[in-house]
Amino acid sequence: MQVIHSIDEMQKISLGLRREGQKIGFVPTMGFLHQGHLSLVDSLINQVDVLILSIFINPTQFGRGEDLDKYPRNLDGDIKLSEERGVDFLFVPQSEDVFEGQFSTYTVEQELTNRLCGSSRPGHFQGVTTICTKLFNICQPNIIALGQKDFQQVVVLKKVIKDLNFPIEVIVSETMREKDGLAMSSRNSYLSPIHREDALLIYKSIQKAVKLVKEGIFKSEKIKDKILTILKQGELIRVDYIEILDRENLESISNIIPNHSVLVLAVWVEKIRLIDNHLL
Ligand code: PAF
Repeated sequence: MQVIHSIDEMQKISLGLRREGQKIGFVPTMGFLHQGHLSLVDSLINQVDVLILSIFINPTQFGRGEDLDKYPRNLDGDIKLSEERGVDFLFVPQSEDVFEGQFSTYTVEQELTNRLCGSSRPGHFQGVTTICTKLFNICQPNIIALGQKDFQQVVVLKKVIKDLNFPIEVIVSETMREKDGLAMSSRNSYLSPIHREDALLIYKSIQKAVKLVKEGIFKSEKIKDKILTILKQGELIRVDYIEILDRENLESISNIIPNHSVLVLAVWVEKIRLIDNHLL
């Protein structure tokens, strides 16, 4: 595995690979890799010639007062895990190179990004779509893998890829969970055992929702009420949103349409914001 820091070098390599007709798979990450990231690598490895994984803690997707400075980092560990998993190129650009000088060009998706996480984190998705389009231009992927855990991000990036005609296929990998059900996330490292106890209510509430749907309850309000009741058991929990949506356009729906709906949640456990979702 080669570790590349230079944007020009990475782009030259990718363009060369494409000229040779090689199929490039790409996994964008912010590092501190866990099994969730590695499952994205696994989902691509057997269908590409070359696999690139990027690590870049993108400052433009963090709002003021968010956790940019304390976002967990472990480059040595990430190098080891990536190499063991079969990554060919680990791309780790520097912030000052990515947003060089008077950077002033952004990618903005306007329909899907003002709601849900976009409304609690203004500017977040502009940061995500800008860095991802830049990374697509640098790494030239034929195919990328994204985690379902960031459901809104997946829908937004698919829309950007379609609207801007990037010739990129998107694979979405199921959310990986810890043994206790907590969705894997680099931010889980912030949770103390007490936080974690409350955080587990998120998965408990999702399981309840799934059970209710299996029993034939399709009214969104009814399911959201039950979820709220469970989440309220956590003293440290403050709900940001609980929504049941159409999977494609992220519009709220009052009745679940099986196989077309998604439950999405964002919850603060004290100062730690966690998101999760489940396809219904
Ligand atoms: O999901 C993430 O880790 C980030 O939002 C991404 C896609 C790597 C862009 O910075």
